[in-house]
Amino acid sequence: MKVDFFRHTLGRDELESVKATLDSLFLTLGPRVGKFEERFAERLGVPYVVGCSSCTMGLTLTMRGMDIGPGDEVITTPMTFCATSNAIQHIGATHVFADIDPKTGILDPEKVKAKITDRTKAISVVHLYGQLAPMEAFRKLADEHGLYLIEDAAHAVESERNGISTGKLGDAAVFSFYATKVITSGDGGAIAVHDEGLRDRLKRLRNHGVSKDAAARHGGLYQHWDMLELGYKAAMTDVEAALLLPQLDRMDEQLQSRTALVERYEQKLAGHPDVALVERTGISGHHLQTVRVPHGLRDAVLLGLGKREVGCAVNYRAVHTLHWYREQFGYTPDDFPIAADWGDRTISLPLYPGMPESHVDAAVDALDAAIAEAKAEAA
Ligand SMILES: Cc1ncc(COP(=O)(O)O)c(C=O)c1O
Repeated sequence: MKVDFFRHTLGRDELESVKATLDSLFLTLGPRVGKFEERFAERLGVPYVVGCSSCTMGLTLTMRGMDIGPGDEVITTPMTFCATSNAIQHIGATHVFADIDPKTGILDPEKVKAKITDRTKAISVVHLYGQLAPMEAFRKLADEHGLYLIEDAAHAVESERNGISTGKLGDAAVFSFYATKVITSGDGGAIAVHDEGLRDRLKRLRNHGVSKDAAARHGGLYQHWDMLELGYKAAMTDVEAALLLPQLDRMDEQLQSRTALVERYEQKLAGHPDVALVERTGISGHHLQTVRVPHGLRDAVLLGLGKREVGCAVNYRAVHTLHWYREQFGYTPDDFPIAADWGDRTISLPLYPGMPESHVDAAVDALDAAIAEAKAEAA
């Protein structure tokens, strides 16, 4: 049985929504972007949202909006997609990795504390696989040291831990609407913020640093715009917003579906001698169903799953073990041993809303067979 890793749920509602946009005047930075920003902010319970072109650009805009730049340090995790630390490179600041909690894979506040210096300007946490980082501990640390707290929320729209949800304690939470995310416009992103001044700055930075966007220039007599600072081309388009808006209405139902599938995986894999599950810490957005297999077997297990037509992915090989980071910064895996260990053992299994339960069973059977085969080969 072929088991897809992911399938999007875009359909008739999104088609109609995009059609209405094509029949209207604005294709970018128009009313649908505004509508999405309003509705997403409402959903998160955060005062403002700024739509942008991706999470990567959202992180970049956010740090620029916080005036972080050359000479400044941002502490983050190596157990993430490289975009989290790449954004720090893009603004010319210095990334400082700290290691992760071995049970959850999430950045460890104690390890972060040990890395704070006079140059530290921000902590950038990642809500890995959909589970919220320990935000109270990070907020306390940030406040004690006068730092910004940034949430890379690419995996975590619907997450909650100790009654705190995504975006509530961070100065900014940055979302991804990339093709495999829980809501998607193919590519896209958004930044949730509490401060009106930061919101206005982000709106300017996403649009070249100019004083007026297209909608503000439309209507009335001609008014000059000016460029107030060097910004980016990183706005959300109305076509993207049109794709995203109907998905907001399905989010709860889709989370329920992913949660039921994850529970089935966990039930089937509980106590498995060769499979470690991620420890649960609260309400997860369940972006990914990720497990760890014994050391040295992961790549053979990936091939075994592929041979059995079960889609899989690696989220993630630790960033400090990737070629560019090793070359530029001379890292060895042992610099962040827990992240390196996760990165060598982790596999993500198929998960998407509406996936048949029988596909969970087939994926677990294939995983069992692939592990047995990998162990026999290694012996
Ligand atoms: C944790 C994390 N951060 C950032 C990104 C980058 O998101 P985008 O592709 O929207 O730039 C991703 C994308 O997969 C991610 O998983």
